Amino acid sequence: LTAERYPVQRLPFSEVTEEDLAAFEHMLPGRVITDPEVLAAVNVDWLRSVRGCSRVLLRPRTTEEVSRILRHCHQRNLAVSPQGGNTGMVGGSVPVFDEIILSTALMNRILSFHDVSGTLVCQAGCVLEQLGRHVEERGFIMPLDLGAKGSCHIGGNVATNAGGLRFLRYGSLRGTVLGLEVVLADGSVLSGLSSLRKDNTGYDLKQLFIGSEGTLGVVTAVSIACVPRPQAVNVAFLGCPGFQEVLQTFRFCKAQLGEILSAFEFLDAECMQLVGRHLGLSCPVRGSPFYVLVETAGSSVAHDSEKLTAFLEQALSSGLLTDGTVATEQRRVQALWALRERITEALSRDGYVYKYDLSLPLEQLYHLVPDLRARLGPRARHVVGYGHLGDGNLHLNVTAEAYSAELCAALEPYVYEWTAARRGSVSAEHGLGFRKKDVIGYSKPPAALELMRQLKGLLDPKGILNPYKTLPTRA
Ligand code: FAD
Ligand code: MLT
Ligand code: ZN
Repeated sequence: LTAERYPVQRLPFSEVTEEDLAAFEHMLPGRVITDPEVLAAVNVDWLRSVRGCSRVLLRPRTTEEVSRILRHCHQRNLAVSPQGGNTGMVGGSVPVFDEIILSTALMNRILSFHDVSGTLVCQAGCVLEQLGRHVEERGFIMPLDLGAKGSCHIGGNVATNAGGLRFLRYGSLRGTVLGLEVVLADGSVLSGLSSLRKDNTGYDLKQLFIGSEGTLGVVTAVSIACVPRPQAVNVAFLGCPGFQEVLQTFRFCKAQLGEILSAFEFLDAECMQLVGRHLGLSCPVRGSPFYVLVETAGSSVAHDSEKLTAFLEQALSSGLLTDGTVATEQRRVQALWALRERITEALSRDGYVYKYDLSLPLEQLYHLVPDLRARLGPRARHVVGYGHLGDGNLHLNVTAEAYSAELCAALEPYVYEWTAARRGSVSAEHGLGFRKKDVIGYSKPPAALELMRQLKGLLDPKGILNPYKTLPTRA
């Protein structure tokens, strides 16, 4: 699958031998997996768009075990592909050839939680949703949330610098991650599980690993600032007659709701059709060309609902909205969120998905969608737009019966050139992984790329960590 679609050659790493397997078995008794059935699942990505042929999966429990694994791999020149929940969207989490898969699945211990500061310290393999439950019982929430929460690991979130549904309110992991513990390519451990909000002693090295997609080190533990659990949460699901009205609704929302606005997401009518058709979810408002999900999170039920009601009345009467519904009860809140969160799943059931994750100027955020519908015509099954409008992040997805080189050529480099011409980013939040590494140049200048290569050389001189990922193939 991978080699057919992408021209890539195996680099001269060693191959895993019986002696290597015996050494791993000594380090991780019973946790060196060579069963082909288990390996089949971890060799293929969530989108089923890339597949490797690794013959060994390692499941360490501790940082010390990760350190011993990497020390051995470094000495033996064995390549390693770190894997968390394997929900990544750019083919970064699976091997390209026979790289060893190093999974954090058993590194799922919560190490500490401080209920005054809200600082959570945990191992990298903790599943995001489970962390959410743990801190919610203690009056806090995680500063990030995403549709993949039931499977993704916090280490994977950090490694991809995942954005998600709470970014608008709580910002990037670059601000909320307080410290990391990382094992470097040669097995040495960089301990930095700080809980400090402020620390300007030298370079902030943890930032190097946030968003490095497993190419600079293996994140083994995370210290993260959680936020107080809001007392009042409202979700409004709204219909909009056009994209201009979506933008005006966002503007109006920020002005009227102010500090209680916690999410502003959008989807188009084709997304709604797809979640209906493939997942059986029904649209809770009158059919419209666009839908917006607005969430408020605050500390006073009465105050928040008063503000939201005033906002909705004005937006409806001024024609910004065609219809709307509000939920406060947790199950209805979740049902409205599902319409947005499960689009990814609906798309993957629609056929092969060409996935683009763009940062664009807000005024032009949706322009590319109708443009591509006209350009692709019946070659595409669906061209849809949805995403984190409040963050200027469009998810542009095209589905078709199967992968076709011809349709791909109609999309690329067109989509990337269109984005670069508007000074956008060709990867807003998913990273580059394997599938997007060669388009980095649309968003970063050559000098930045050169510096990235030097950093990679410094931290991983043999290039064993997630080879073929993030940095472009040299011409
Ligand atoms: P994996 O997929 O296993 O790995 C991702 C990358 O990180 C790989 O390069 C891997 O090598 C590396 N990696 C993993 N763990 C480690 C580690 N411990 N140390 C070093 N490197 C590591 N992303 C968003 O940004 N916003 C969203 O809203 C969002 N929603 C999603 C919704 C769905 C339904 C799905 C399927 C995905 C979504 N994603 C979203 C993609 C997102 O990148 C991942 O869901 C998540 O951050 C990846 O975590 P993971 O544990 O699954 O990592
Ligand atoms: C989302 O926001 O739903 C995710 O980033 C996944 C996707 O782009 O489909
Ligand atoms: Zn997203």
